[in-house]
Amino acid sequence: RRIRAAYRRVRTSSGVMNNQIQQALTSIGLIKSFTTEKATANTFENVNEQNRDNQLTATRLGATFSPITDFVNYLGTAIILGFGAFQVMHGQFTVGLIVAYTAYLGILQAPIRQVTGLIQQLQQATVSFERIETLQAAVPRVVSPPNAIKLARFHDRIQFDRVGFSYDPSVPVLKNIDFSLAKEQVIALVGSSGAGKTTITNLLDRFYDPTEGKITLDGVDLRQADLESLRQQIAIVSQDVILLDGTIKENLEYGTPNASEAAIWQAAEAANIATFIRELPDGLATQVGERGIRLSGGQKQRIAIARVFLKNAPIVILDEATAALDNESERFVQASFDRLMADRTSLVIAHRLSTVRHADNILVLEHGEIVESGTHDQLMSQNGRYKELYDLQFT
Ligand SMILES: Nc1ncnc2c1ncn2[C@@H]1O[C@H](COP(=O)(O)OP(=O)(O)O)[C@@H](O)[C@H]1O
Ligand SMILES: [Mg+2]
Repeated sequence: RRIRAAYRRVRTSSGVMNNQIQQALTSIGLIKSFTTEKATANTFENVNEQNRDNQLTATRLGATFSPITDFVNYLGTAIILGFGAFQVMHGQFTVGLIVAYTAYLGILQAPIRQVTGLIQQLQQATVSFERIETLQAAVPRVVSPPNAIKLARFHDRIQFDRVGFSYDPSVPVLKNIDFSLAKEQVIALVGSSGAGKTTITNLLDRFYDPTEGKITLDGVDLRQADLESLRQQIAIVSQDVILLDGTIKENLEYGTPNASEAAIWQAAEAANIATFIRELPDGLATQVGERGIRLSGGQKQRIAIARVFLKNAPIVILDEATAALDNESERFVQASFDRLMADRTSLVIAHRLSTVRHADNILVLEHGEIVESGTHDQLMSQNGRYKELYDLQFT
């Protein structure tokens, strides 16, 4: 029992240590620019020492365990030899009997000693297994219901029906969100940071379920829909692009594994990235590095857009997708967005209001509520919050 408790502490501290290593290595740029190398090294040293101490305690416990069993084993042999010798002297036993007996005893002892070693390994494995079990027992918040409805390709409208939502029950994030998005329309969400724009997109892709009201797609409540058939219809491009460590080709065909070479180039062309790829010495086989570190922000973004073209989802969500780009790359990217949105249904969150002027409907969000809605011209003439945001940017 004590060995198991000790290994449990080892597992915990080695988890902490691995976290520390991963975090330090992935934020090495941050560490250097804030010159926190020493502090980071100190933190690591502390968790490393803690882990070493735990490991030593566990090993020490294990190490005392086997000498004890060995001692008992050999003590047994010694007693038998002593008792046997006594009996032989008194003519009760033959020498041969004692020799045979100790030989058999040796055969019996070897497995017992192995079992002792195994017990230690077993305790260690039990602890690991406990941790795996905890992970496996985690229940996803959002799953397809039994008898889920497989959604056909989006053809009519998305409806937010008095949706309320909060991540933490005591802090309401969205209140009474009510709007509809018809096929091939563009709806823009604007509003200050923290207003709840991204949260609306999280609900549409069903990363979370509304706490009040419902969202329907072609009349089907998202909670009733088959999750895969929902998410296949939606492509998200956001500010932070996630690229995988691999080739450009692998990143492009992610989620569309059997795309033809021609389709890949067509998507790259549409995303304004084909020329760039063609000029690379290794072309599509170029390694992008961990999280795409060898590419510029604009290049990464265009690869992400090409990936979305290839996925060919009917619904597109652009969440401040150009916010991290400089003006020139933004112009480049914007052109491919226009192509992407052309015959699709889009929900656009834009930090630059000039990009949402042509939206069919603009929703102005404040503190989780829609405070105004209409076209650009309507909202400008209303002289309300939208006009305020607009003037803030352009005058
Ligand atoms: N995963 C989360 N857990 C808890 N609170 C969150 C989470 N994501 C966002 N929030 C909170 O919800 C509010 C709305 O966030 P968000 O939808 O990201 O705003 P926006 O995209 O408009 O800037 C913010 O107050 C934010 O702190
Ligand atoms: Mg956001």
